[in-house]
Amino acid sequence: MIIQTENKTIGIMGAMPEEIAGVLELMTEVTEHQIGMRIYHQGKINNTNVVLVFSRWGKVAAASTVTTLINLFKINQLIFTGVAGAINDKLNIGDIVIGEKFYQHDMDARPFIKQFEIPMLDIDHFEADFGLITDAYEKLKDAIENNLLYDNAHPTYTSILQNQQVHIGDIASGDQFISNETTRKNLIKHFPDLFCVEMEGAAVAQVCFEFNIPFITIRVISDGANSNAPIDFADFVKHVASKISKNIIKMLIV
Ligand code: ADE
Repeated sequence: MIIQTENKTIGIMGAMPEEIAGVLELMTEVTEHQIGMRIYHQGKINNTNVVLVFSRWGKVAAASTVTTLINLFKINQLIFTGVAGAINDKLNIGDIVIGEKFYQHDMDARPFIKQFEIPMLDIDHFEADFGLITDAYEKLKDAIENNLLYDNAHPTYTSILQNQQVHIGDIASGDQFISNETTRKNLIKHFPDLFCVEMEGAAVAQVCFEFNIPFITIRVISDGANSNAPIDFADFVKHVASKISKNIIKMLIV
């Protein structure tokens, strides 16, 4: 079954239903396809063919979703938007991280291969598409300078978001919500240049690498991956996530 064969089709994934709901508001000519416990929203944003889907949480959920986007919907580019926990101390809640290198921090097939190395691939990380990274950086920097990302922000976040920055940096993914200082410090020990942590990016990156699909991941910092993370995360998702994902996609697909 091939559902999409048109020229350029961008897959858009998010790990929170709130984010998907926001992006859906941008789409026209929408049709829905239910496949393997996911709903794929096919349509257009500004005349570009897109397929939008809520991936659910974790590496397996994300990997299986992007595989369907590639094989059934024939996407030739992938954008993942979502939230992440800060690892680098210079990040604040609301900052944006465009992922550069992606590590699977829970991959460990020792003693056969080195910790974090991906079996059979002989590498320990995947890289997002350089052209997509630079394009997104310019567009998001411009959007922040012109206050376009957080129009009508929830009052709790108005001042936080006034100092928002966009960064390009490394991301680690694993099937774990990081919410304690010991785990956070351990990640820094292994990945000194890490910017943030989430649960899907490096799995999506592996599938895109294996199918040669250019991808980009854009994460907004929702928490500090510390003991306050569960509260900060829930609050951020409730008040900010849907708007920010929508506005990021609006900036990128013009
Ligand atoms: N996504 C958002 N915050 C996170 C955290 N602290 N750990 C893992 N994934 C996250």
